[in-house]
Amino acid sequence: MARPEKPRFSRKRRTVIAGVAAISSQVIMPIATYATTKRPTSVGREKMDVDRFVEDCLIANQESDAQAAVREVLAKAVSTPNAVISALGEPENAGLNVLLSSSTLTIFAATWTPQMNLMPHDHLMWANIGIYTGREDNIFWERSADGIKASGAEALFVRDAASLPEDAIHSVTNPLLRFTGGIHIYGGDFFDTTRSQWNPETLEEEPSDGAVIRGIFQRENERLGLGSNS
Ligand SMILES: [Fe+2]
Repeated sequence: MARPEKPRFSRKRRTVIAGVAAISSQVIMPIATYATTKRPTSVGREKMDVDRFVEDCLIANQESDAQAAVREVLAKAVSTPNAVISALGEPENAGLNVLLSSSTLTIFAATWTPQMNLMPHDHLMWANIGIYTGREDNIFWERSADGIKASGAEALFVRDAASLPEDAIHSVTNPLLRFTGGIHIYGGDFFDTTRSQWNPETLEEEPSDGAVIRGIFQRENERLGLGSNS
């Protein structure tokens, strides 16, 4: 299988925050200086400060390259995965734990049951994914004259923080016999955007949105007799 010329994911592992962040609507300063002089960071403790993490993402989302700036915040968070688990809990079902839902930024913890699969789908907005437990395997798809075809793959492990462009199409598998958890961040309103998914067997394109994705996660819990919190 041929890989695309450029990786669909750009990723950084175990990165240290760099770059700039706005601490108000007017003031811009280096994140490193900001983090060490103005207030405690949202991560690096025994338990992640979820409110501070969301706030840091909102600040980063004001940058000219918002996706890269938000990814830096995400990479820092998942560099201490136990702190994320302490804050969000060990995954126990298929879930979408929404931390922020707005018109310009959506943040949720996606939890995957053992060997759970999600069919090919697009987002129509940039996406960053950071893994705090388990593993997410991605197959990338591209539109073709006959629908979509697989074009590449990427396995994401704990502490990986990856970026997907706006036009990405991917399917996701948890290949493990245990739960996986990842923080997913989108540069728009994930739940109120109509987009597409593709039937996993026929690859027929179908409409999708947040409600459809929630339904898929809920049915996975019903299938396994698990409670649902999404
Ligand atoms: Fe996705």
